[in-house]
Amino acid sequence: MKLYGLDLVHGLLLAPLSGYTSWPMRVLSRRFGAELCYTEMISAEGLLMNTRNTLSLLRRPAEDAPLVAQIFTTSPRHAAHAARIIEDQGFNGIDINMGCPVRKVVSKGAGAALMRDLPLAQSLADAVVGAVRIPVSVKMRAGWDSGSINAVELATALEKIGVHCIILHPRTRADMYKGTPRWDLFADLRQSISIPVVGSGDIRSASDLECLRTLGCDAFMVGRSAVGRPWVFRELLGGSAPSMDERREIMLEHLDMLGALYGRDKAAAFMKKFISGYVRGLQGASIFRNLACAALTFEDLKEMIKALPASLVSVIKE
Ligand SMILES: Cc1cc2nc3c(=O)[nH]c(=O)nc-3n(C[C@H](O)[C@H](O)[C@H](O)COP(=O)(O)O)c2cc1C
Repeated sequence: MKLYGLDLVHGLLLAPLSGYTSWPMRVLSRRFGAELCYTEMISAEGLLMNTRNTLSLLRRPAEDAPLVAQIFTTSPRHAAHAARIIEDQGFNGIDINMGCPVRKVVSKGAGAALMRDLPLAQSLADAVVGAVRIPVSVKMRAGWDSGSINAVELATALEKIGVHCIILHPRTRADMYKGTPRWDLFADLRQSISIPVVGSGDIRSASDLECLRTLGCDAFMVGRSAVGRPWVFRELLGGSAPSMDERREIMLEHLDMLGALYGRDKAAAFMKKFISGYVRGLQGASIFRNLACAALTFEDLKEMIKALPASLVSVIKE
């Protein structure tokens, strides 16, 4: 199938996860089968002001491709300007965030708050589509709350504007990340629009993929299941879980890549966010987690990972 002008074989995508999906997680996910990745959400205003933190979100090595950059804002003018910068930097597409539920973002009217302001949501998309030649997508929620489910209405309007695909995480802003995602909305969406539909929300198994395919999704975005488990893509494609040696090598490589990105002082702290995922299901996981969280330096953490004893941590559940 074609997405953002790219030929995808399986349609497995790594979701944008703020605070997690910087290039090390993207590079590892690609190795196991993620065909396309997204940056974490990037403030359009931060990009225009060239803030150091924002610019660092655009940094990536050559192997981290193809890649879509995601922006958030409430200003169509800023969105268009940011989109041109992103296009100039060689990204494969631009995604507009209309799904982030966190207070800091929705209180300014951005992210999922756009599900309450469809005219502004459409103006943003219109401005970005008009500003660039690369494909533009929108990632949205089901609606603001259960009394205002309007994803199909918004997606229908966005298709007319020229948006290239819709990514739907079918929970409402009020749901945050709780409860069961309303996957039945994918079928409604499929009947209402003819552009590609990307499914997001609790995708964990090959049978989930099959179910979403039946409901009309063209591609599948995996988020939390890939945190500390980049091999989830291989498993979704019918491949094996990693051996202990492979797991240890991946962890060490992840730590080294975080060191290259953030510097050794910060890398250990970033790596700790992934440790639970990496050791989940292993005997002795909680002991290792506690030890790793107490590690003070990059080198301490590295030595602990190297010493993960294969005998102690035999796999007890996957
Ligand atoms: C910690 C965290 C950060 C996220 N950051 C973003 C983001 O920057 N942009 C975005 O569109 N969605 C973001 N999401 C939503 C995910 O992309 C995804 O739609 C959601 O987590 C459901 O998919 P999952 O069950 O596979 O995680 C984030 C979710 C989490 C848990």
